[in-house]
Amino acid sequence: MELTQSLQCLQPSYIREILAVAGDPNTISLAGGLPAEQSFPMPIFQSIMSQLANDSSLFQYGPTQGYAPLLDYCDQHFSLSPTDQSLVTTGSQQGLDLIARAYLNPSDGIVMEAPSYLGAVQVFELAQARIIQVDQTSDGPDLTQLEQCFAQHSPKLFYAVPDFHNPTGVCWSLAVRKQVAQLCRRYDVVLIEDAPYRELRFAGEMLPMVSELCPEQAIVLRSFSKYASPGIRLGVITGESHYIHPLITLKQASDLHSSLPMQALLLGLLTHDHFPQHLQAIRALYESRYKILASAIAEYLPDSCSAWPIEGGMFLWLILPTCDVNTLAKTLLKNGVAVVPSSVFYPAHMEGSYSALRLNFTNAEPEALVKAVSRMASALAGEV
Ligand SMILES: Cc1ncc(COP(=O)(O)O)c(C=O)c1O
Repeated sequence: MELTQSLQCLQPSYIREILAVAGDPNTISLAGGLPAEQSFPMPIFQSIMSQLANDSSLFQYGPTQGYAPLLDYCDQHFSLSPTDQSLVTTGSQQGLDLIARAYLNPSDGIVMEAPSYLGAVQVFELAQARIIQVDQTSDGPDLTQLEQCFAQHSPKLFYAVPDFHNPTGVCWSLAVRKQVAQLCRRYDVVLIEDAPYRELRFAGEMLPMVSELCPEQAIVLRSFSKYASPGIRLGVITGESHYIHPLITLKQASDLHSSLPMQALLLGLLTHDHFPQHLQAIRALYESRYKILASAIAEYLPDSCSAWPIEGGMFLWLILPTCDVNTLAKTLLKNGVAVVPSSVFYPAHMEGSYSALRLNFTNAEPEALVKAVSRMASALAGEV
């Protein structure tokens, strides 16, 4: 049977190819976007799960919008206004899919940072949207380009990850946040603020979300994957109810609702007395792993390779002298290190203006991080 045209155009994921090989026990993988399993709150989950098994109503069909006590928690915790609504989704990835299906007709314009999160690129490509890219600087999107792009292309949406971007780790400065909010208002562009890494700040000051600066012009995606666990598959979309209401209708047609027992489990975690310590422990673990990776890079790699400093999140962006990053990633794999080349993070037929690798530091032990960098140093010596 013939596939839809949109699916025929979708590129096979290079990341999946790399991850398949990265499972080899002799390979150190810095390729995935996986949180550390030791960060999962298993003792808390165990105690909540045994209580959930006493409540049969949680194992019945439930409301599409989400488990009511979890929605109440989100209203309060995210300080939503009375005109806002929340929708619990099966991870933020489903949130992206619902937004694309609700708001993007083929050829509608959507602006993305370049490079950008691969899962979002795929969703917007499947929607056959017109993807317009704006370069990312170490401070956030290039504002001159962004304004030109809003003025010339009249896009409907701007998709962005302002806190600890995937893949670059960039966190927008306050000045950039204010200016982007102003531009969205001036040009009537709706901001899709994707914030899965916001809670993973281990240095510097917490900054306001961009959506707080233009609330009438924004939809926010929050994920629980990075500080609860990705396997529970839960996220929440919030925004003014006229944006969220159509998404609820779509979700009903898509999967009826996200798992109720998992929503109750998540609420149990978020309201648990030990939750603040749990968050602190994840931040401390990731900070220590980031520092180990950054100092190994400084020690082993040539000066021509530079890492953008970060204050949180899960990724380090290593800028290299210009080279063929796909070939380099394959060479590194042969040398026992899996990483993701920058080419993967651009839509089809577009490419970046420089060479880089995304290194994940959250899912490797300290010794493995150091060994990975020393293996990279040997492989790079012959390549760049
Ligand atoms: C920027 C970004 N958005 C969304 C997601 C998807 O998150 P979830 O596990 O909630 O579907 C990821 C996952 O890595 C991500 O990096």
